[in-house]
Amino acid sequence: MATPIILDCDPGHDDAIALLLALGSPELELLGVTTTYGNQTLEKTTANALRVLELAGRGDVPVASGASAPLERKLVVAAHVHGESGLDGPTLPPPSLAPVSEDAVEWMAGVVADAAGPVTLIPTGPLTNVARYLDEHGAEGLERIVLMGGAIAEGNMTPAAEFNVWADPEAAQAVLDAPLDVTMIGLDVTHKAVTGPDVQRRLRDAGSIGVFVAELVDFFTVYHRETYGWDGAPIHDAVAVAHVLRPGLVQTKLRNVEVERESELCRGRTVVDLWHRTDRPANAHVGVDLDSAAFFDLLVERIGRLG
Ligand code: BDR
Ligand code: CA
Repeated sequence: MATPIILDCDPGHDDAIALLLALGSPELELLGVTTTYGNQTLEKTTANALRVLELAGRGDVPVASGASAPLERKLVVAAHVHGESGLDGPTLPPPSLAPVSEDAVEWMAGVVADAAGPVTLIPTGPLTNVARYLDEHGAEGLERIVLMGGAIAEGNMTPAAEFNVWADPEAAQAVLDAPLDVTMIGLDVTHKAVTGPDVQRRLRDAGSIGVFVAELVDFFTVYHRETYGWDGAPIHDAVAVAHVLRPGLVQTKLRNVEVERESELCRGRTVVDLWHRTDRPANAHVGVDLDSAAFFDLLVERIGRLG
């Protein structure tokens, strides 16, 4: 049986690619997409989710829009990375479909209750929707959460913190505190999922959706070339989806993770007790390594299936 998943995202270039990877993978049953502010405003990320689904001919997949701001913090979006639309680069028409009328959390509750089996949540944006869901509905009916966010020893929003966790650190802590299996795929891992000219060539040869993905990567590379000097871009969010559909690609360690919420300097830092320096109980499988070649083989092959 395919694993039932809900993708909670803020598309976003790598979110869009994560969504396409899920659509191209028969091991996963995409029950729907929930959206959050993050890479851009909620209105834009929701429109982008719809546009990508329509491009892939999957307007049947429901989209539910959720949080427009963090639980407690001020809204900050990542236009400096993803552009004004949140999905700058390739030209896409505005969506012809609309999100469902229910809010993401309410919609998720109905879907989880009706699902044939426990549902895996894959959050690839700030964790506000997921924290609200857990607060209001608990963990029943959920198999696990595999999120893209945080880091052991990296930062991209600040020297100390990764964007998704930085955006809503209170929500991230609530997710880590939840009584269910949580996997954190952070920057240490996703910075090994950086494209290069060879991946771009293979994507362009993989069909029209492959060309679209390569164009997304072209835009996403601009920021990463300026910041890191890379000749490519990290496809962060797709690694979380890949981990669910192809166990073994990402290597993890079960550790304690706490989120810094007091200091401004280290806001959103995920403090990972990698070497058991405390007695705090393990609460997350933390990604530590990635088989990059196998990840890109999988990505190119699955994008190719979309035509
Ligand atoms: C995360 O932040 C966003 O810019 C990306 O979509 C990804 O989810 C990486 O820090
Ligand atoms: Ca994202």
